[in-house]
Amino acid sequence: MHLLLTNIRQLCNVELGTERKSVAKGDSLKKMDCIENAWLLIEDGIIKDFGDMEHAHAVAANDILDVSGRLVLPTWVDSHTHLVFASSREDEFVDRINGLTYEEIARRGGGILNSARKMADIDEHQLYDESLARLHRVIAQGTGAIEIKSGYGLSLEAELKILRVIRRLKEEGPIPVKASFLAAHAYPIEYKENHEGYLKLIINEMLPVIAGEGLADYMDVFCEQGFFSVDETDRLLDAAAKYGLKPKIHANQLHRSGGVQIGVKHNAISVDHLEAMGDEEIEALENSNTIPTLLPGAAFFLGIQYQPARKLIDAGLPVCLATDYNPGSCPSGNVPFLLTLACTQMKMTPDEAIQAVTLNGAAALEMSDKMGTIAVGKKANLIVTRPMPSFSYIPYDFGNNPVEKMILAGQIV
Ligand code: NIG
Ligand code: FE
Repeated sequence: MHLLLTNIRQLCNVELGTERKSVAKGDSLKKMDCIENAWLLIEDGIIKDFGDMEHAHAVAANDILDVSGRLVLPTWVDSHTHLVFASSREDEFVDRINGLTYEEIARRGGGILNSARKMADIDEHQLYDESLARLHRVIAQGTGAIEIKSGYGLSLEAELKILRVIRRLKEEGPIPVKASFLAAHAYPIEYKENHEGYLKLIINEMLPVIAGEGLADYMDVFCEQGFFSVDETDRLLDAAAKYGLKPKIHANQLHRSGGVQIGVKHNAISVDHLEAMGDEEIEALENSNTIPTLLPGAAFFLGIQYQPARKLIDAGLPVCLATDYNPGSCPSGNVPFLLTLACTQMKMTPDEAIQAVTLNGAAALEMSDKMGTIAVGKKANLIVTRPMPSFSYIPYDFGNNPVEKMILAGQIV
């Protein structure tokens, strides 16, 4: 099966030579390579070749799609979401408008605990159907690979329910999915005064089952004041390592809690959020392979400070962007809007923002060999935009969906 795209106005985020980039940082993050007036050939779901129309040679293809006036980009890789949840939380949204903080709502048993109560009651089939519908909605906005966390279960049974739903999305859904185990998201009410009991439950009962059934790719912990301390995070990540689960953790969302440093100590794939950062945290990241993942959608929705993207980029770090799609702090998995936020609120350029949610998103899910750029041999998960002048138009044209067609594994969907 061959599909040939012709007259592409701008083919974005291409890799030209034979050397593959595993992440974009430094000068390569600042400038995204593109080809104007291009063609691209897909064979059996894989990018086979591409170039500019002027130097096009004759290629045989079963299908030819003329995309004059449109751009083609690698799909977004959303490396941090909580897409499998049981119910929305707009009442808490109103409470926050009326003056309560996110932490106050959590302390009185709302927030994550509210989501966990709803998760306990929902039927697994219904949870799957609602999650699949959400997945299709984000795909329609350009997402072509995604990470999904558990963490609204907080009991063995309910965490398994979420992880089984994620596994089904992986097996039956149309895009690559990775799963993170996040039972350490909040202390359940019954363990409020017995942290040791909950840590033991995670370490001795949940981890063996979840790892045994191969239900998770990564271990996540919400390392934050009032949630899991640095020492508790340390223990949990040690325990996960025994099962080969690498860390991707929630760090430095509300306070400079030591989350970044403990993530780096455990060689985390990524540390995510990073609203509350200082020089020590940046220095720790400079001496590591850990990817700093910024979630400005959560900062926007909670009305807290944005992440210091410029400082991190200027320190040469491979900054990644993700949505954090969840019912509490960011009830949106809309990557085009995330790009607008990154540009307007964190002063990332469109070159930087798009690479942060394509190649660096792929790197944060250890799939940059297959996803994240237009390169020969990578998976043909591509966005064909509506007619538009250039990629900077995507974050500029905020609130509108740039996607006209999605190509997933070489198939137009
Ligand atoms: O990434 N901060 C921790 N977890 C989620 C929000 C959880 C919730 O409020 O439901 C986040 O922001
Ligand atoms: Fe999150």
